[in-house]
Amino acid sequence: MGQVIIFDHPLIQHKMTILRDKKTGMKEFRELVYEISLLMAYEVTRDLPLQDVEIETPVAPSTGKVLANGLGIIPILRAGLGFVSGMQEVMPTAKVGHIGLYRNEETLEPVEYYVKLPSDFAQRVLVVVDPMLATGGSAAAAISLLKDRGAKKIKLMCLIGSPEGIQYIQDEHPDVDVYLGALDPKLNDHGYIVPGLGDAGDRLFGTN
Ligand code: PRP
Ligand code: URA
Repeated sequence: MGQVIIFDHPLIQHKMTILRDKKTGMKEFRELVYEISLLMAYEVTRDLPLQDVEIETPVAPSTGKVLANGLGIIPILRAGLGFVSGMQEVMPTAKVGHIGLYRNEETLEPVEYYVKLPSDFAQRVLVVVDPMLATGGSAAAAISLLKDRGAKKIKLMCLIGSPEGIQYIQDEHPDVDVYLGALDPKLNDHGYIVPGLGDAGDRLFGTN
């Protein structure tokens, strides 16, 4: 079964509280998502495989370590875009693939509208990013899409998850580790995370 890693770092918890506050405006919200994604990126990449390389320092030959696989950042549009620049800051050679999904507001089922992936994405360790893991439908659909096209190693990184969302990912994709800034208690009747932070896409892009 994949692991669920919930970040308890004080800096992340502090920033998450400001992010959740409805008084926090679009600019500060966007900056906080960027800052949290920087902090989360270190933990998400902690177990990436390394390989030895021979180099010469100015003083002597030496064996160093470099990442064995390339990385891919896969934002689920729209709100996942908020994570991309922070992740790229930490992983500048990571390629970015986009998956466009929105939730049908009545059925809460994900609807796919766009997919553009790097040609070598299947050889990369992929980190699917989306601020909200609510029913889990969108993240599970994005992961299925990647697996159907050949992806082997996938991680999921979200700001806030729900118990229902985690259960759904573990049922559908037991091989995928889930990284969360916080785990909230429940969903409301509209499929929103409670207390959550509201609509992540609207708060990032000012569309509410
Ligand atoms: C939000 C969020 C996730 C999804 C989570 O996107 O960014 O993608 O809902 O819900 P789920 O776990 O129940 O699938 P939304 O559909 O609002 O699209 P947007 O990012 O374009 O605003
Ligand atoms: N999508 C969001 O943006 N927020 C939620 O709480 C649930 C789904």
